[in-house]
Amino acid sequence: MTRSRTLDELDWPLRSARLTLRPGRSADAEEVWPWYRLPEVQEYTTTLSPTLADHRTWWDGGLETRVVGLQEGRIVAAGKVARQDAWSQAEMREQAAGRQAEIGWVLDPAVQGRGLGTEFAAALRDIAFDGLGVRRIEASCFAENHASRRVMEKIGLRLEGIFREESLHRSGRWLDGASYALLASEPRPPLAR
Ligand SMILES: CC(C)(COP(=O)(O)OP(=O)(O)OC[C@H]1O[C@@H](n2cnc3c(N)ncnc32)[C@H](O)[C@@H]1OP(=O)(O)O)[C@@H](O)C(=O)NCCC(=O)NCCS
Repeated sequence: MTRSRTLDELDWPLRSARLTLRPGRSADAEEVWPWYRLPEVQEYTTTLSPTLADHRTWWDGGLETRVVGLQEGRIVAAGKVARQDAWSQAEMREQAAGRQAEIGWVLDPAVQGRGLGTEFAAALRDIAFDGLGVRRIEASCFAENHASRRVMEKIGLRLEGIFREESLHRSGRWLDGASYALLASEPRPPLAR
């Protein structure tokens, strides 16, 4: 049954117009570290890893959800497609299990601003819908992360909520959160190049 598929079971690699995508591997942690560690990359990410060892531990902890995007053999994008249980009433738990996914993305700053973030995010969206077979995808970010919000909009996700000061940033500021989603039954916009 499609909805119980894992990322590992899909046909890899996948290709978008300019990227080759495959599941993340443990060894990738070291390859992405030189750009993943940059302050502009980590500004809005959940986990700040002060050392490569911390980064490796964090990377390996989420390995089953990781997808990377390569250009000319180099990893320039790191993302996640994390299958999740939908909320349900107790007696519907089994039918709701694993029916949605959360997606997220980070790009090497050296390649940002060329539409690759949008291209990678659209590929993650399609992996969740067409590969894992989920019925709904969600993405969320700090509301002031305008680049990521724009990516969400460009791949067709709908703004479903702005949550007032729900999130504490490591700067000590309480920030609004923004949540976006799309159903498998809804249209996906074609990507403009
Ligand atoms: C979010 C991110 C992946 C976007 O990557 P990218 O390759 O620059 O994205 P694209 O080139 O596809 O641009 C997407 C859109 O965002 C817009 N954008 C980029 N930076 C922006 C900014 N600072 N403010 C507003 N819009 C911005 C672009 O103009 C483009 O919209 P347009 O086509 O209407 O002009 C990248 O900025 C990133 O990795 N940021 C750090 C990590 C992060 O915050 N990840 C998300 C955590 S939720």
